[in-house]
Amino acid sequence: MSAPEIEGAHSGAVPLYGQRFAEDTEELFREMRRDHGPVVPVLLEGGDPAWLVIGYREAHRVLTDGQLFARDPYRCHGPDYVPPQAVGHVPGMLMFLDGQVHARRVGAVAAALAEVDQFGLRTDCERFADRLIDAFATAGEVELIEQYAYRIPVLVVGGMLGLPDSQLMAVAQDMKTMSDGRKEAIDAWGRFIATMTRLIEIKRARPGRDVMSRLLGYATGVTDDELIQDILVVISGSQENTANWIGNTLRLMLTDDRFALTLSGGRRSVGQALNEVLWEDTPVKATPGRWATGDTELGGRTIRAGDVILVGLAGANADPRVRPAVHGDSGGNHAHLAFGSGDHGCPYPAPELAEVMAQTAIEVLLDRLPDVRLAIPEDELEWRPAVHVRGLSALPVRFTPAYVVEGG
Ligand code: HEM
Repeated sequence: MSAPEIEGAHSGAVPLYGQRFAEDTEELFREMRRDHGPVVPVLLEGGDPAWLVIGYREAHRVLTDGQLFARDPYRCHGPDYVPPQAVGHVPGMLMFLDGQVHARRVGAVAAALAEVDQFGLRTDCERFADRLIDAFATAGEVELIEQYAYRIPVLVVGGMLGLPDSQLMAVAQDMKTMSDGRKEAIDAWGRFIATMTRLIEIKRARPGRDVMSRLLGYATGVTDDELIQDILVVISGSQENTANWIGNTLRLMLTDDRFALTLSGGRRSVGQALNEVLWEDTPVKATPGRWATGDTELGGRTIRAGDVILVGLAGANADPRVRPAVHGDSGGNHAHLAFGSGDHGCPYPAPELAEVMAQTAIEVLLDRLPDVRLAIPEDELEWRPAVHVRGLSALPVRFTPAYVVEGG
């Protein structure tokens, strides 16, 4: 796909849409770095100019300087500004707030999540993983992205929030419908609001030992509408990102000899594969938009007040200034930017909870279906054509039909 002609700072801008950006990320980042350096002029779908930061040092600076690189576009553009559609701006949503208001809301979310018992979480993950596997174990084949990876995080996080078991599967399906932007998404959103409104009423009347009850205690001065938006960020962030972490790691383990899933292949640990994916195929490829509040210099580029900036976490992770020429083994190196950084980074303890979910989901799957293998050639797997996320459209597998756990 060729870029429309553009003059000035964005001449030669790279289109940040289309199949090329989905498929060829590694090669594309190499080309971008060669032709433009660490800060790349790009065009968003719809033709709006933006900057994609793919230098590690520059990305770190943008992520951690919330004064100069704002999340709230109205801080530099005023109330009548219409942000480019492609940056996914939703007014009032956690990710697009700054300062005290943001700190109060994200602080409440983090405090409520911090009380989750991680041992109990692992047990819950095992229970849900077994239940999902029971549904396809005897079939000998399944598509793992929709039937497994996307379901586990919502079942687990929905349970943490205090939703009854009987509602979890419907919420998981609605979240996937919304994430895919299917035509039924509006109905799914309506059901999500109704379910959460009812949950808030129940937990306000009779608080329990769940995340929603704690959130109601911590989130003082937050309206119910805002609370529902924050819960949406928690559930959708955990679903989309953890699902793609699970899916991308399974792809790595099923296709790379170093992780061959046979006894003779010398099975590497799931933990190593999960960490490697955070470097090589990180689930959040680029963050939502930020806006420069003043003129500045970044990676040799002049950024003007009001410019849109996306931080390319995948590009920053691949920056040769921080990665050895042969990526090979990311081993125990956790300096990747997969969870962002700064005020808007994935709030502690969410990365730890996500790791428990992803690791348990993969371990249970491999224990239950030890000879699981791809059902199609590796080069027929397709990445979703998305700017912000890196995840497979589908991961079809085959395996020897297995027994079903009694009452699982
Ligand atoms: C339990 C699972 C998870 C929960 C509850 C969760 C929650 C959140 C929340 C609430 C935010 C918004 C922070 C803010 O803007 O103030 C966030 C941001 C973020 N999360 Fe997570 N997350 C989870 C899993 C993951 C995973 C698995 C990844 C990737 C490997 C990830 C990567 C990110 C990134 C990169 C951001 C920041 C993007 C930016 O700069 O705006 N998250 N997460």
